[in-house]
Amino acid sequence: MESKRKKLLVIYHSQGGTMKIMADRFAKGASREEDIEVVYKNAADADVDDLLECSGIAIGSPEYFGTMAGMIKDFFDRTYEAAKDKTIGLPFVVFVCAGNDGRGALAQIERLATAYKWKQVQEHRRIVGHPAEQDLLDLEELGQTLAAGIDFGIF
Ligand SMILES: Cc1cc2nc3c(=O)[nH]c(=O)nc-3n(C[C@H](O)[C@H](O)[C@H](O)COP(=O)(O)O)c2cc1C
Repeated sequence: MESKRKKLLVIYHSQGGTMKIMADRFAKGASREEDIEVVYKNAADADVDDLLECSGIAIGSPEYFGTMAGMIKDFFDRTYEAAKDKTIGLPFVVFVCAGNDGRGALAQIERLATAYKWKQVQEHRRIVGHPAEQDLLDLEELGQTLAAGIDFGIF
């Protein structure tokens, strides 16, 4: 039987593994909310149905060459036309990792989210260098907070 639980879509891309560590922890925190189904995917494997079916989205991207990872941009490219009028107000949060900056990736994702008219519900996270355990605990908490907010309908 198909699940009736609200879904939180968590998409990420990671070439070198750092964002995978971060996204794993975000998804782990989100999964603590039992009434929420966490749909956790590589951006390359996510499609427009994942987006249309979710009640919130979290996006994890490394900064490559001053902007978001190409596969994150690809997800937006593939879904925009079909989803732009159907996901207005979707709660979203972004977490970025970077070698020394990350602001370009964050700004570009925020611009695209503005085009979709999504709603930022938590402060985005930008982690420079290898994430410390405290950063990862913070991401777990962020995941749980987003999931709980969606569950309670407060976002
Ligand atoms: C091709 C490439 C381009 C990068 N460009 C930037 C950049 O513009 N700014 C920055 O702060 N870090 C940059 N980095 C560093 C990555 O953002 C950083 O190593 C990140 O943690 C990689 O995440 P990943 O291991 O999940 O792929 C770049 C790394 C690569 C491989």
